[in-house]
Amino acid sequence: MDPAPAAQPAPLLFLAPMAGVTNTVFRRLCKNLGADVLITEFVSAEGILHRNERTRRYLEFQPDERPVGVQLFGANPERLAEAVKAVIDWVGPDFIDLNFGCPVNKVVARNGGSSLLRDCPLLKKVAAAVVAAAGKVPVTAKIRIGWDSKSINALETARILEGEGIQRLAVHGRTKEQGYTGQADWTVIAAVAASARIPVIGNGDLDSASKALARWRESGVAGLMIGRAAMNHPWIFREIRMALDGGAEAPVVGLSEKWAFIVHHAELEIAWWEGKEDLAMRSMRSRLMAYTRGLPNGARLREKLQHVDSLARLREIAEEHATAHNGCG
Ligand SMILES: Cc1cc2nc3c(=O)[nH]c(=O)nc-3n(C[C@H](O)[C@H](O)[C@H](O)COP(=O)(O)O)c2cc1C
Repeated sequence: MDPAPAAQPAPLLFLAPMAGVTNTVFRRLCKNLGADVLITEFVSAEGILHRNERTRRYLEFQPDERPVGVQLFGANPERLAEAVKAVIDWVGPDFIDLNFGCPVNKVVARNGGSSLLRDCPLLKKVAAAVVAAAGKVPVTAKIRIGWDSKSINALETARILEGEGIQRLAVHGRTKEQGYTGQADWTVIAAVAASARIPVIGNGDLDSASKALARWRESGVAGLMIGRAAMNHPWIFREIRMALDGGAEAPVVGLSEKWAFIVHHAELEIAWWEGKEDLAMRSMRSRLMAYTRGLPNGARLREKLQHVDSLARLREIAEEHATAHNGCG
């Protein structure tokens, strides 16, 4: 792999916010592997204002996660402004991130997330209200490139957000209509990076170090944001970092290293659930499914993991699998 060109400063690596995935435990694991910037799963302005227990857990982070941002969604500028003040008071994040990309119907129906991409006047009001409420705390945003293929407006959205004081912009190169289908359009991301004065972070389909480096060089973004690939292979941060640092190939992650990591993840999750092992393991199941993608005999493995309810059982499954497939990467 070619080392980075001297003129282009190395990109920051971001773990994409992912609801149900990027809790404090997983974020710290990714940070240890080389992620620079972390963001909480999205939380609604209303959840913050009601200070419910679920929201408290979404907002939890450890000092070693910094810089860490809290991601908010909502469409009511006044309520968002109140929520921003409350959250800054409550947990003291390094930045606030506004979600203008979520395509999920429940969010869009309440005019949140990506629905603001087709209502630029409201988007502008939301950004202005949040920037004013946040005071000295920087506000960033995450957008998709537009609502659908006929209304790609990332350049306009970026211009509005920049004008309202948004300090950094992550662009997922898909439209709302695409959901997670098709491919991220990095030409639009590159166009935003070229025209914006604020740092632009590119996001979409980065699933290997070589692809990440190629997209970074072609697009001129200031940072790379990785989502789904990290769910399955968090070592991607280490691999990108090593490629950036001098082109050395990162060591292949062997089966025993993978299982040790997965078991460690489960241990940390149990600690986070204050020892409630059954609850922690239940919440880990979807994580375990993601980790097994690409492992030998994955279908059989997933069948077993679907019912895992204790750390002891996870260790047993890990040992059986590693022994049966010793030597497989
Ligand atoms: C399970 C899941 C949950 C997500 N939750 C959020 C979220 O809370 N906030 C957000 O801005 N994006 C969310 N996203 C979108 C990701 O942050 C990212 O933009 C998208 O997955 C594209 O990047 P990737 O191709 O690297 O996965 C989510 C994506 C997935 C797969």
